[in-house]
Amino acid sequence: MRAHASSCPAADPVIDVQAVYKSFDSVEAVRGVDLRIMEGQFTAILGPNGAGKTTLVEMIEGIQKPEQGSIRITGLPWRGNEDALHRIMGISLQETRFVDRLTVFETIRLFAGFYDLDNGRVDEIIDMTGLCEKRDAYVVELSGGQRQRLALGLALLNHPAILILDEPTTGLDPNARREIWSILLALKKKCRTSLVLTTHYMEEAEHLCDRIVIMDAGKILAQGSLDQLLENHCAGKIIAFSLEPDVDVSDAAWMDGPFPVRWNTDQRKGSFEVTQIENDLPAFIDYLKARQWKLKDMECRRKTLDDLFVSMTGRRLHE
Ligand SMILES: Nc1ncnc2c1ncn2[C@@H]1O[C@H](COP(=O)(O)OP(=O)(O)O)[C@@H](O)[C@H]1O
Ligand SMILES: [Mg+2]
Repeated sequence: MRAHASSCPAADPVIDVQAVYKSFDSVEAVRGVDLRIMEGQFTAILGPNGAGKTTLVEMIEGIQKPEQGSIRITGLPWRGNEDALHRIMGISLQETRFVDRLTVFETIRLFAGFYDLDNGRVDEIIDMTGLCEKRDAYVVELSGGQRQRLALGLALLNHPAILILDEPTTGLDPNARREIWSILLALKKKCRTSLVLTTHYMEEAEHLCDRIVIMDAGKILAQGSLDQLLENHCAGKIIAFSLEPDVDVSDAAWMDGPFPVRWNTDQRKGSFEVTQIENDLPAFIDYLKARQWKLKDMECRRKTLDDLFVSMTGRRLHE
């Protein structure tokens, strides 16, 4: 099953996306994307709703066709290689529909039948995804996290060399999210699977992936390892602070000041970017003193991916 992936020399990408465009009527969903993914790499496509993540991964999965540009998987285009590529690729869509009146075991067995796999593999998948206790439960009875683990199990059935997951943990609580992460990390260790996942959780991208691709409005804004991204794009630091509750401050007050403060009125918190901390910090304190505004607390921290996203788009990932 891994023959196709391993017939590809180590230096060649398993997924090679070049100058890909796709639009729907007036919406340009993907606007010129280049992306190369190497074997064994875990890549996160990180971006807010509407960034074009699903459209991009569905083109990689062969579900949608690019309008322009090319996509090759292990060196092969989709056209004419559908069977071979389906055999090496496991996918889970953004929303998975199951047959509610089948049990977990019956659902996995149904899919195993498509690949000619026996019940032994079905049990391995149940074990791997931690669904043993739910083996005979109807799918309709599963929690959100268990449904996502079932969807992941189905994607893994055929020992895929390439796994593509569209928002595998969206809407899950932190525990359920971690359960998915540990299944994926175990897979990385054992099978050298190449993974592409889409997410709007920066913690997920940071925790799981070697490579992070930041996407917004149909374009890739930046890509690299977390360290590379922070090093190349996040030279400055962030000062985050809150003020005593009796301070009466509005957005307008900050707009007039010398610091580019983003002020959150509900939380009474502000933050801004500095490049010369030794000069900017004392100047900020003087500015507050001159207005007799009292600080409640303040921290100076390294930038995060979220800050990087803000500096590139003017928006937060979760706004
Ligand atoms: N089938 C479609 N028809 C019309 N517009 C679409 C369709 N699929 C996606 N879009 C639009 O393309 C843009 C990107 O969507 P999508 O790829 O789903 O982004 P994401 O997965 O990052 O949320 C959005 O503006 C969305 O409304
Ligand atoms: Mg999506």
